Amino acid sequence: MRIAPTFAATRAACRGTVGLVPTMGFFHEGHLALIETAREQADTVVVSLFVNPLQFNDPADLARYPRDFDRDASLAESAGADLLFAPPPEEMYPEPPAVRVSLPALSAELEGAHRPGHLDGVAVVVAKLYAGLQPHLAFFGRKDAQQLALVTRLAADLSFPIRVVGCPTLREADGLALSSRNVFLTPEGRVSARALSRGLFAAADAAAAGERSGAALEGAAAAELEAVGVSAEYVAMAAAAEAVRIPRLDRPAFLAVAARVGAIRLIDNVFLWPDGRADRGRFLERPSLLYSKGKGC
Ligand code: PAJ
Repeated sequence: MRIAPTFAATRAACRGTVGLVPTMGFFHEGHLALIETAREQADTVVVSLFVNPLQFNDPADLARYPRDFDRDASLAESAGADLLFAPPPEEMYPEPPAVRVSLPALSAELEGAHRPGHLDGVAVVVAKLYAGLQPHLAFFGRKDAQQLALVTRLAADLSFPIRVVGCPTLREADGLALSSRNVFLTPEGRVSARALSRGLFAAADAAAAGERSGAALEGAAAAELEAVGVSAEYVAMAAAAEAVRIPRLDRPAFLAVAARVGAIRLIDNVFLWPDGRADRGRFLERPSLLYSKGKGC
């Protein structure tokens, strides 16, 4: 695997079908699954690693975002990456960007309502990755369902000839969705955090049993959070393509929750279909490599 600090060097090293996996690093099995999926579908797999300051609405969150470049480089290589595009800030933003990229219709609710500016920051950096690296395929996790809707629509509306591939959420054996932020949970917080997925799975069970009302499905998820005293920022069923809340499960959708567990903000979701099917993601059998010391592999 080659480490490339510039757009030009990365592009020059690409051959055939190019698959891009955008990331902010501190890899776990969710990131590695995206890289492995890209490996199956593309001739050249490019992983980008850039902690994008524009998408952090809270400076403290940016300052404490976990980073370990050597660990990430070795994990990306073992998952099958050919190139690790790791630009310094001045390569990504030679000047503060004058262009704004925003998708107001997809950013009004959910994360958009609770993290002002966050999704606009994502849209700018992903537009730059699409334009600067010219991939044929781009791989994103369903874990960030609204982001997935946004980057899909971004490619379509701006005519980037890119197919966006959404990939299932990787979870700990007890259901907790993997996130780089999980390393900051206290032992008690780690136990409470299980309520997010427990609630979502209860809602998925209700959908499988025939429930189609958004309020009822949201209520099933919220009840698990309330039971352990975790306060939700939102519990919402939204159309998968637009990330806009819908009252009935009558099109592809996701049921999303955001909650603070102690000081740590977590998000999770399950994708739901009108016939009652759900994508709950994939479960690890062993604790995530997030918790292993050293190189983590
Ligand atoms: P980051 O949080 O590093 O996530 C990189 C990719 O991994 C995203 O597509 C995200 O949805 C996916 N991912 C995270 N946790 C996952 C899990 N448990 N299972 C499956 N996939 C998971 O998302 C970002 O970075 C940034 O916003 C980015 C798109 C790189 C733009 O800066």
